Amino acid sequence: MGQAGLVGFMNVSIVMLIIGFTVLLLMVKFELGPMSRLSAGRRWLMTLVLGSGMVAFSIKLALIATFVHFPEQTIRQQIAMRKSPALVTWDSGKFAAAEQPVVQVQKPYEWRALPGVAPAPAWNPTTPEKVALGERLFHDTALSIDRTVSCSSCHDVRNGAGEDHRPSSTGVGGQVGNRNAPTVWNAAFQAVLFWDGRAASLEDQAIGPPLNPVEMGMPSAEAIEQRVRADVSYREPFARAFGADRPITIRQIAAAIAAYERTLITPDAPYDRFVRGDDKALTTAQLRGMELFQSVGCIQCHSGPNFSGASLFDPPPSTQRLFPVFDSPEYMKRYKLNKDPGANAPGSKQAVWRIPSLRNVALTAPYFHNGSVDSLPEAVRIMATVQRGRQVGSGTNGVRAVVWSKQDRTIARNDTAVLSDRDVDDIVAFLKSLSSDTLAARNGNGG
Ligand code: HEC
Ligand code: HEC
Repeated sequence: MGQAGLVGFMNVSIVMLIIGFTVLLLMVKFELGPMSRLSAGRRWLMTLVLGSGMVAFSIKLALIATFVHFPEQTIRQQIAMRKSPALVTWDSGKFAAAEQPVVQVQKPYEWRALPGVAPAPAWNPTTPEKVALGERLFHDTALSIDRTVSCSSCHDVRNGAGEDHRPSSTGVGGQVGNRNAPTVWNAAFQAVLFWDGRAASLEDQAIGPPLNPVEMGMPSAEAIEQRVRADVSYREPFARAFGADRPITIRQIAAAIAAYERTLITPDAPYDRFVRGDDKALTTAQLRGMELFQSVGCIQCHSGPNFSGASLFDPPPSTQRLFPVFDSPEYMKRYKLNKDPGANAPGSKQAVWRIPSLRNVALTAPYFHNGSVDSLPEAVRIMATVQRGRQVGSGTNGVRAVVWSKQDRTIARNDTAVLSDRDVDDIVAFLKSLSSDTLAARNGNGG
């Protein structure tokens, strides 16, 4: 039985109540009155006392009938309808159809903070010995053919935000690759790695760069093992991390680097403090941006504590997406965003990419797989346009309408409103709240 049924039931109850009350009045006047020999005034008083008793009893009966006959969901909706404000304002605009009651039909999106520990696979638990060894390997140029490049050359974790601020990185012999170096901070929370999501774990990933001819240029896994074995100062740390009497293997090298990377996490951003209960951690602009991030639909892809549907938080993760979803020839041409099809078949018009995490994004310009966009507001405008089909512009911010379907009992927001420059700024302000304070301080500008 739906809401209509419940409303009908209530109406019938009220009519019955009025009829009952009238019958009682007539009875008191014509039956009880003459018998009781009371004065006219007292007769009315008696009617009132008996009548209100009866009204109370009827209400009780009606409530019992309601709770017995109607599903909990229906009653909750009724209560929600009564509680909702009749008119919701949104900055200058007003919600159209505001006289319609607003009913919450879905469980709202839950915002979550990043945990303080990154999960590790059972075969490679994170130990202090492995982490220390992994840190040394990560910064060791011996893993590259001409001993000039280490992981940290492109992922500066000691002084930077885990990347190199270049559109695409420079590897051995000054060779320039064709993709932007993503930050390694919080990569430990991603279910798949690389822009196209082709690596399934940090352990798998760690062997890639040393063997990549453009990055570190080592000819083979054996060559990497030889390099590390040749350095006697590695013997003791490997023995401590993996047990003595075992030759150093590529698997151990990868395991140690991965263990170190699992400590490169930033659960200390203002956003995390806000979600954990510090009301003052976000500014008003950031709060507006947080709401927009949800209502514009960024959370459809950049979801969960790592702001990526490709992270380990919501199994099974949904890792890759079309980019662009909505065509924008202008943006595509200006930034050559659909030259590289990513994980899609070569020559495809629409590319497929792993959903990147947006943590520390304000510190990791330039943006996108090809590093073609320098400014974060521009990246946000592109995303709103090509991933959400929204118009972005200054000035005319039209009326945002709430569309309530009486028939389906669903609510949606009319998506045609132009996102203003201020909306974009608010989203950018919110994205800055995802920056670790420690990393932002290094950058010198808080993002
Ligand atoms: C020459 C620069 C360069 C070097 C050296 C380098 N990387 Fe990278 N790294 C990149 C680029 C570029 C990508 C993205 C490549 C892609 O997606 O196709 C990347 C991606 C990654 C990712 C994936 C991050 C994510 O969000 O998916 C991790 C983790 C990583 N590198 C770790 C390492 C480690 C560990 C080393 C050393 C063993 C290393 N990198 C060496 C440039 C480099
Ligand atoms: C349909 C899924 C989807 C939606 C919706 C979406 N994004 Fe993205 N986002 C992606 C993908 C995929 C990429 C990676 C694109 C690439 O590889 O160049 C990305 C990249 C980004 C980047 C660049 C990250 C970097 O490190 O270079 C930013 C910033 C971003 N998105 C913000 C947003 C914002 C803000 C919204 C809401 C207006 C949004 N996204 C909506 C899927 C989505």
